[in-house]
Amino acid sequence: MKTQVVIIGAGPSGLLLGQLLYKNGIDAIVIERQSSEYVLARIRAGVLEQVMVELLEEAGIAQRLHQEGLVHDGFDIVFNQDRLHIDLKELTGGKTVTVYGQTEVTKDLMQARSKAGLTTVYGAQDVELVDIDSHNPKVRYTLDGKTHEVVAELIAGCDGFHGVCRASIPKSSIQEFERVYPFGWLGVLADVPPVQHDLIYGNHPDGFYLCSLRSERRSRYYLQTTTNDSVENWSDERFWDTLEQRLPIDLRVSLTKGPSIEKSIAPLRSFVAEPLRYGNLFLAGDAAHIVPPTGAKGLNLAASDIRYLSRAFIEYFKDKSSAGIDFYSQKALSRIWKGERFSWWMSMLLHQFPENSSFDKKIQETEFNYLKSSEAAQRVLAENYVGLSYD
Ligand code: FAD
Ligand code: DHB
Repeated sequence: MKTQVVIIGAGPSGLLLGQLLYKNGIDAIVIERQSSEYVLARIRAGVLEQVMVELLEEAGIAQRLHQEGLVHDGFDIVFNQDRLHIDLKELTGGKTVTVYGQTEVTKDLMQARSKAGLTTVYGAQDVELVDIDSHNPKVRYTLDGKTHEVVAELIAGCDGFHGVCRASIPKSSIQEFERVYPFGWLGVLADVPPVQHDLIYGNHPDGFYLCSLRSERRSRYYLQTTTNDSVENWSDERFWDTLEQRLPIDLRVSLTKGPSIEKSIAPLRSFVAEPLRYGNLFLAGDAAHIVPPTGAKGLNLAASDIRYLSRAFIEYFKDKSSAGIDFYSQKALSRIWKGERFSWWMSMLLHQFPENSSFDKKIQETEFNYLKSSEAAQRVLAENYVGLSYD
């Protein structure tokens, strides 16, 4: 089989790239290890930056997002019992974010792909990249016991943190930067009304909590846990009682409890691999970088990579120019590092760090007090939260 682009991974990065290339008449095949049902069952991010919403509009898949997505123009930060409202709209000259689950974005992209009759290979095993530093790189995989080979001009590595693409680059040609945090997040999804419409990011002496939602009838909550914790230790009852204890006292009466429909624990990590290109392989999204979820940047950074990469690929095929692909890594990394900085900062402000000294605790408290007293500091937070411009 021959095509212009092979995209490894059918998460949001891979599917969005496929859709933007399709809109520009470029052939691409998407190769995914899991089944489509498995991909759709993963509950992950939920907050979309305004620039990401605009990108999904450009991709032609934002119709349901505009019908069902919830526009949020602010959120709360609670430090112990002290509450600060961040008015995103006011602080950014009218910008907002949209609450719309990653699962829904993925579903919309999958539907657009199948409607257009485009090829996505689900359930591909033993995916292998061959000759990636040559002009005709290949991807081999096994499906139903048979080995297949696709020859392409360019390969997009959109296969997440544990994928095969980054691992195929020789160690001497890639540099990794990493910070692992000493805690994880326990996430719970439940069909109960959210405790309030605006999201709440809270730092309680027992740990971080986040109150989010997917709709006015479906809540998404997170609690800071230890790194070695497991969901088996968290009955629904323990989860709700712990969340209730961490909430500000006046909000506890508004908490509706109910059976969980999903429960998972994710570790927290900051990670960047540089550069994002090796030969004709280009990394994007979680394959290249990870942020701790505080600040909701993971999915949004994946989208901005894809915006840069799709434009570079279009330039390559339509204008026969390599300028875009040559500049992709540098351009994407500049925005990625700003997302890394912001996610690290939000994580430092809002979590209980087991190793923190009394000095560190005072600094964290002062960071919140400063934020509370300074509109300039709030503006910096708001500008980053709604999403920096793609430029
Ligand atoms: P992924 O979504 O990981 O997609 C990669 C795809 O590649 C997957 O479908 C995978 O099956 C496939 N793949 C892997 N290996 C291979 C292979 N060898 N061959 C073929 N296919 C392969 N961000 C937030 O902002 N807020 C959150 O609350 C949040 N929660 C998260 C919870 C978890 C458990 C995880 C893992 C991430 C979370 N994120 C969150 C981050 C956000 O979901 C990611 O940034 C986003 O999914 C990145 O999209 P992606 O397409 O780059 O990678
Ligand atoms: C959600 C996740 C986040 O990491 C975040 O910062 C905000 C919301 C969510 O899943 O709704």
